[in-house]
Amino acid sequence: MSKLYITGRKRLNGAVKVQGAKNSALPILAATALCKGESVIYNCPVLSDTEASLMTLRYLGCRAERSGNTVIVRNDGLRRSDIPDSLMRKTRGSVVFLGAVLAAEGKAKICLPGGCDIGIRPIDMHIKALRKLGAVIKERRGCLDCRVPHGLKGCEIALPFPSVGATEDIMLAACTADGTTTITNAAREPEIGDLADFLNRCGAQISGAGEGTVIIDGVNELKGCAHAVIPDRIVAATLISCAAVTGGDITLKGVIHSHLGAVVSVFEDAGCAFKADGNELRIKAPERLEPMKLIRTMPYPGFPTDAQAPVLAAAAVADGTTVFIENIFENRYRHAAELARMGADIRTEGKLAVVEGVPRLYGAAVEATDLRGAAALVAAGLCCEGKTEISGVKYLERGYEDFEQKLAALGAEIVKL
Ligand code: EPZ
Repeated sequence: MSKLYITGRKRLNGAVKVQGAKNSALPILAATALCKGESVIYNCPVLSDTEASLMTLRYLGCRAERSGNTVIVRNDGLRRSDIPDSLMRKTRGSVVFLGAVLAAEGKAKICLPGGCDIGIRPIDMHIKALRKLGAVIKERRGCLDCRVPHGLKGCEIALPFPSVGATEDIMLAACTADGTTTITNAAREPEIGDLADFLNRCGAQISGAGEGTVIIDGVNELKGCAHAVIPDRIVAATLISCAAVTGGDITLKGVIHSHLGAVVSVFEDAGCAFKADGNELRIKAPERLEPMKLIRTMPYPGFPTDAQAPVLAAAAVADGTTVFIENIFENRYRHAAELARMGADIRTEGKLAVVEGVPRLYGAAVEATDLRGAAALVAAGLCCEGKTEISGVKYLERGYEDFEQKLAALGAEIVKL
């Protein structure tokens, strides 16, 4: 099992291209199961999560080939409508294959998805919405047997919470349903808009994506298309955090500033200076960060829950106190205990984390237990006195493409062995 070894306190400098968004690539790859013919997906990051999606597409009967960051999916009709537990458990993103396969085949058999252990992560909203669209879903021993005896019919769906996955699942199921589907209280994340752009390019009729109410007029068929995935705003936020803890000066290339508003605002409060220029964003950090005071994670466009862990690592060395309120997931502070091994002063209780910034963290042997928690440990390792050894690198590889190489190119002393 690989480990990451970091010798801290090296200032980050230089420019780095931000990878394509994992949480956009996953639903778009699932959507190709619903689109006949060839789809070409550009800027698709090479991650264990995206590779899991390619394995699922091949299992279903599609041809899925990768050349660098370009993925070509050839779908001449699915051969199967079931997805085995071994594939479903690889990532949470697999759940949206349900909507796609159900729409494509009129039936689907999946087990509950995997994903990072940051909470129970039920899919009750997905199931309730698909039933309203006409699916008959039997739940047994953690698996779902779904059929649509009378086809999928458009309807009004009011989500109790703007769930990203539920919004995506409904969009996929409703694209070729009979009639119009309206999703109110839909998720507004940029990845929703990117999925809608892909589907519309394939012939779907979706409007309002990203605005909270999404309207999908069912069409007969979707045909594959070419599409470039948007940049990963959470990887961008993580790189900002890595620069910020090292007093660095880096330029992010290929970002969409409007996706980063809540994160930039937090780091501006902490004393960082930003300069936006086209699709580039330069961050200059002070010698030591000011505290961010209060950070509440919220659905987009609020502060993203996925940035909480790497930003908490930055707060751990700020000159004062920062309070975090994690409103999205119930178990998303597991990185706090590992950061404490490095000398961080963090107290957590339920949704709350109180971080007293300390002048210095010290290298230690720490263990990642989820994707964004792994990113937090890397950020912390970059500003530690001495050497840090991080195990659980597989979690980082779920969402960060060649991350240690990119950090090394910016001046970090980091290696994966
Ligand atoms: C997506 O997860 C992302 N994953 C997550 O990123 C991200 O943290 C999350 O959206 C919120 O932005 C992917 O896109 C693959 P939700 P998802 O449905 O769809 C509850 C990362 O680090 N809920 O918006 O699972 C749920 O338990 C990952 O890249 C229900 O109760 O998130 C959670 O508390 C982590 N019932 C809240 O809603 C449901 O049916 C938000 O979940 C669905 C969700």
